[in-house]
Amino acid sequence: FATGELDGVRVLVTGGPTWEAIDPVRGLTNRSSGKMGYAVAAAAAEAGARAVLVSGPTTLPDPDRVRTVRVVSAREMHDAVMAEIDAADIFVGVAAVADYRPVESAPRKIKKEAERLTLDLVRNPDILADVAKRRPDIYAVGFAAETEDLEARARAKLEAKGLDLVAANLVGRPGSGFEADTNTLLLVDRRGTTELAQAHKTALARILIHEIAQRYHAQGRA
Ligand code: C5P
Repeated sequence: FATGELDGVRVLVTGGPTWEAIDPVRGLTNRSSGKMGYAVAAAAAEAGARAVLVSGPTTLPDPDRVRTVRVVSAREMHDAVMAEIDAADIFVGVAAVADYRPVESAPRKIKKEAERLTLDLVRNPDILADVAKRRPDIYAVGFAAETEDLEARARAKLEAKGLDLVAANLVGRPGSGFEADTNTLLLVDRRGTTELAQAHKTALARILIHEIAQRYHAQGRA
């Protein structure tokens, strides 16, 4: 039988957006189809990992051989990740987590009466930074979606959140990011920068998992 690069390794992935309710019918969210996170979780499972995906709301089916936990808000995603994190060796944060949520969500639909309406927002927890803080031994990978200064911003994120690797992609151009089926990634870690050429998200996720597996297994042998 085939042996995979991540046989027996436990990989936890977040994917999709989060949804922060304003009232029962309205909310704040981030643009994300979930395609990249789902592809990363599927590629990890293909490589032999025991993969768990914590997903925000998407229209995608659960990936094959991946235990998928569905959540809605950033706080629910945070709780679900913290419940799984002690049983993980590698964490890959692909989710587009909403940075802010309404201070309170109205129990009933807000009536369209006022000409102006002010929403009071509060910061959401940073799931990835909390993972790296709580489990400094875990191999932590973050994503960075940027419209400019990709490498510098990715490197800043690597340091600020205490990560092992950042996969950065340019958004807002054709063939990359958001709902697109293809993506281009720049891998930034303490050793340098590697560019992964534009490819279908499924193919790119396999290459990314290969790059992660190599670095994960090389830890401590540097
Ligand atoms: O800081 P920024 O949002 O640009 O960082 C993006 C990375 O951090 C992604 O890997 C994303 O999944 C993760 N993140 C998170 N929780 C947040 C915000 C971002 O896990 N509240």
